[in-house]
Amino acid sequence: MSNVVIIGTQWGDEGKGKVVDLLAEHADVVVRFQGGNNAGHTMVVQGKQFISHLVPSGILQGKTCYLGNGMVIDPGVLLEELDYLSDHGISVGPDQVRISEKAHVIMPYHKSLDHAREIKKGDNKIGTTGRGIGPCYEDKASRRGIRFIELTNSNVFAERVKSILEEKNFTLEKYLSAASLKADEIIDTYTAYAVRLAPYVGNISVELHRSLRTGKQILFEGAQGTHLDIDHGTYPFVTSSNTLSGNACCGAGIGPKEIQHVIGIVKAYTTRVGRGPFPSELFDDIGDTIQEKGAEFGATTGRRRRCGWLDTVILNNAVRLNGLTGLAVTKLDVLGGLDSLNICTGYEYQGETLDYFPGDLQVLGECKPIYETHPGWSEDISGIRNYNDLPENTKKYLRRIEEIVETPVQIISIGPARDETIVVKNPYTA
Ligand code: GDP
Ligand code: IMO
Ligand code: MG
Repeated sequence: MSNVVIIGTQWGDEGKGKVVDLLAEHADVVVRFQGGNNAGHTMVVQGKQFISHLVPSGILQGKTCYLGNGMVIDPGVLLEELDYLSDHGISVGPDQVRISEKAHVIMPYHKSLDHAREIKKGDNKIGTTGRGIGPCYEDKASRRGIRFIELTNSNVFAERVKSILEEKNFTLEKYLSAASLKADEIIDTYTAYAVRLAPYVGNISVELHRSLRTGKQILFEGAQGTHLDIDHGTYPFVTSSNTLSGNACCGAGIGPKEIQHVIGIVKAYTTRVGRGPFPSELFDDIGDTIQEKGAEFGATTGRRRRCGWLDTVILNNAVRLNGLTGLAVTKLDVLGGLDSLNICTGYEYQGETLDYFPGDLQVLGECKPIYETHPGWSEDISGIRNYNDLPENTKKYLRRIEEIVETPVQIISIGPARDETIVVKNPYTA
């Protein structure tokens, strides 16, 4: 029996959704443990594209999907997503989708505060997705959040909203010069959401333990990426949750001994949406070519993703922080046609070589990437299904990554579709 955690190793959008959808075939249940609808995971199955923001990507394989206590959930967005999936013939009843009673609810004031704070910060803004993620996690940490337990208890909910809104409206109006919100409108809208969502809500930790006891296999789906982690990422240009594999335990309510494999998703190059340092960023034609060929636009906000060479300083950071047991390298097809490829193997900082990722953003901002150059390949590799059929230079590129980060490449993705994949070693069947 194996339970597997999938996490992003870079700054998000590595192709986690595609790999989760692929591996979900072998799992019984799929669990998200952090983040909210700041995530956008794209799956392509039989020519049809699906984007999920909240429901775990295992839903397309008909698996039971759990939204863990570590998540922050916008109930309106969740209901839209459930309706969208249902309209496409996918079962999303309360047996298929389960919501943790302890997950926090994103409220309208969280979204207003997210927008208004970014405007007030001007040039210093973080470039958030504007979905209310940070303000919702703030309320969780300061113990004035609303969880699904409170949302679905009408006796408690209305009073909670009224008392919290007083402070939120004060901040919105007086400090941020933004419009205030009306308690009655929020209560009416959210009470209607609660009625629809109540059958989905339960104690996920207990339900997962029941699954484990009956020999079921779990797949944990991370959102965002290692370098957007609130503790270990490029703070303050990060999201507001722990995105690392360790949080699969806290965010789902299971213990660490249940996890056997941790697969880090590595885009064959690097991208980032929003602001913050990015040492291997490209500002030339090659960056534009990768951006266009890789269709690097955010699935959540539609923003153009910044593109750069593969950075193994950040990959080594991800291997250490997450305890990675294997890698899934995605979007390798996008690099085809380039004469040569650079891999960043270290940073130069004030004449010295750093082989680790600095925590101080001022230091990171001054770091210059040190590259080694490898020959590219001209062949279209998207039709290849066996590792041995890959061009020699493609294999060399993969072997070099394995060598530098001392972790095996177990999955290679060469196109957006589920079947455009080479599975070298499946963590569930190996
Ligand atoms: P996630 O947030 O990590 O799930 O990643 P996103 O779905 O936001 O972004 C990855 C994008 O790349 C999506 O549009 C996928 O359909 C696409 N994609 C995933 N794997 C591959 C691949 O191997 N090749 C190509 N060309 N596209 C891919
Ligand atoms: P997936 O799961 C890429 C980025 C935002 C911003 C920062 C903070 O699709 O990989 P937030 O709204 O979370 O407060 O924004 O984090 N960000 C992501 N970037 N992929 C994501 O998710 C992201 N979720 C948040 O762009 O820089
Ligand atoms: Mg994404």
